[in-house]
Amino acid sequence: MDDRINNLLEAAKKAYNNAYVPNSNFSVGAALLTENGTIYAGANVENACYAMGQCAEASAIGHMITQEGAAKIQTIVVIGDAKLPIVPCGGCLQKLSEFTTKDTEVYCYTKAGEAKKYLFSELQPVTFDHSSMDT
Ligand code: THU
Repeated sequence: MDDRINNLLEAAKKAYNNAYVPNSNFSVGAALLTENGTIYAGANVENACYAMGQCAEASAIGHMITQEGAAKIQTIVVIGDAKLPIVPCGGCLQKLSEFTTKDTEVYCYTKAGEAKKYLFSELQPVTFDHSSMDT
């Protein structure tokens, strides 16, 4: 595994370990590498008001925006403790799409180390974006 992925995986695991999941008990960690070379991680944050929960990817986006503002995301790592590697949910793909390109790589990991790699465009081939509202 190259250093880039290893560093992202370590950041995602650290976030995973801090996930706040009283409802689902399903921890998720995400880490984003921007084209500036910085890594931003995030964990899912649940709430007694279930619908208020936030996915790990959204936390990582919030971290990125807070630290450096809008940036292009080169690589994403997501880790969850399921039998198979989890992919970002549809809502997170929409949120991420503001900052990705079709070539952004998405590495999905299980805790056991099984990995699956996608291009962002495979997970979200068509996107609703700002230009979708052009009249
Ligand atoms: N979850 C994420 O953090 N990211 C995803 O892409 C899928 C789901 C979280 C939300 C919730 O806290 C838990 O996983 C169970 O759905």
